[in-house]
Amino acid sequence: MKGNVSFTVSFQFCTFELSSQRIVKSIIIAIDGFSGCGKSTLAKALAASLNYRYIDTGAMYRAVTLYFLENNVDIEDEKSIEEALNNIIIEFKHNPNTNQTDTFLNGEDREIAIRTLRVANFVSPVSAISAVRRFLVHQQKIMGDQRALVMDGRDIGTVVFPDAEVKIFMVANDEVRIQRRLDEMQTKGVLGNYDDVAANLKTRDLIDTSRIDSPLAKADNAIEIDNSYLTRDEQFQLVYKMALEKIGQSQNEN
Ligand code: DC
Repeated sequence: MKGNVSFTVSFQFCTFELSSQRIVKSIIIAIDGFSGCGKSTLAKALAASLNYRYIDTGAMYRAVTLYFLENNVDIEDEKSIEEALNNIIIEFKHNPNTNQTDTFLNGEDREIAIRTLRVANFVSPVSAISAVRRFLVHQQKIMGDQRALVMDGRDIGTVVFPDAEVKIFMVANDEVRIQRRLDEMQTKGVLGNYDDVAANLKTRDLIDTSRIDSPLAKADNAIEIDNSYLTRDEQFQLVYKMALEKIGQSQNEN
């Protein structure tokens, strides 16, 4: 849809003014990268500016991990894993107190619990399990049915949405990543020290990049951004511009 004529705007379709022309288009923006590279900061800002939904897929893997820990699920036993997955419902809901989106596990707000080091230390082995990945990737694909979505994770541009119109692969140096993780934990009121966070990131990097099923990798057509020394606004402007260009392009194709 394109033009200056009036039309009905549904929630799923992004609407904004570009020059004097009214553009309505919905694309998918896939943001992948290592932990602590600022994926969620960028993804949230893009989603807010485009009036798109934002989905943090890492939170979904963390929620499954929390369930496994709390229910003593044996991750070596396929049957226990399948049974556990049948009992897991993950939802995202807006928290009016923080103005952020919280992760709900089986109807309960578990946003704080999924950010602890206990969960972080167990999430990589859990996310290497193919049954877990199938379960979550299926839900993530459904979320993209209407497009108008910014999704961040490890396999979004490669597996979940290989057809995403914008694919970003984010990297940053270790010092910066550790500090960002500590800051994130602090804002959620979760305790953590530098050495523990550093060790956790190192172990997770190794497992996330070397697992057999959907390892973290840059999609061939992804744009790599090293944001170690970019401000939030600089990185936002860079990707926002790419998104607007794609939205314009998709308009022309329709
Ligand atoms: O982004 P995060 O640190 O909250 O992610 C937690 C873990 O979840 C990460 O170590 C790997 C896993 N993950 C994944 O395997 N695939 C995704 N799409 C997102 C996260």
